[in-house]
Amino acid sequence: MAGYRSVVVLTGAGISAESGLRTFRASDGLWEDHRIEDVATPEGFARNPALVQDFYNQRRRQLASVEPNAAHRALADFERRFDGQFLLVTQNVDDLHERAGSENLLHMHGELRQARCVVTGEIAPQKGDILPESRCRCCGVAGNLRPHIVWFNEMPLYMDTIYDALADCDLFVAIGTSGNVYPAAGFVLEAKQNGAKTILLNLDEVDNASLFDQQIIGPASLKVSEFFGHL
Ligand code: OAD
Repeated sequence: MAGYRSVVVLTGAGISAESGLRTFRASDGLWEDHRIEDVATPEGFARNPALVQDFYNQRRRQLASVEPNAAHRALADFERRFDGQFLLVTQNVDDLHERAGSENLLHMHGELRQARCVVTGEIAPQKGDILPESRCRCCGVAGNLRPHIVWFNEMPLYMDTIYDALADCDLFVAIGTSGNVYPAAGFVLEAKQNGAKTILLNLDEVDNASLFDQQIIGPASLKVSEFFGHL
């Protein structure tokens, strides 16, 4: 097991690309078709809730037709075998890590399959579309539900737990993420300052690549399986 005691893995949209989900910043990515301000900010939701619900309803529906790939499965296998501390932090709002069997998993940008009441903050499972007439369990009022997604200008989830794990880990691996969105893009520095080895597995070179000790370039399905298979 290469002597590691505590491993933190950060994943981004690239790990789900080979399952058929679009990334954000590719030329065919989600942000090519949509303005971030329209579909991924609280202000956009206030302006046009129907547009925002439709964007996330479509993405939630798509989960029914995709499956975890070899990279998701390799991380779940590693977690089962590893006898140290393991935390998987994902920026992804799909459910492919949990369907592959990952357990110690934090969705720092929220989850498509959950909805949140805008009044009480109560979170509940959401399998189907959120419609104008959908009612939350807590208030029973139509129109109070929003996707449980962290939008720009909102605070990502579980930050205390994540920073504690980064302070303690001796290996940090980022997979399939472009290093454009903070605070996730800064996790590598946090881990490094605390003495961890830092590795990036990505299809191509990214903006914060120079911050990592080592880069492994290639598709996640291959590189994640190889890397964690040999760890
Ligand atoms: P991006 O779309 O910014 O980056 C995806 C990265 O994955 C790119 O660097 C690709 O080269 C790489 N990639 C693509 N296919 C791959 C493959 N098969 N194997 C390995 N790598 C591959 O997505 P994220 O970095 O996840 O936030 O984006 C971060 C956040 O920005 C998202 O969580 C989302 C977005 O705005 C919110 O919506 C709050």
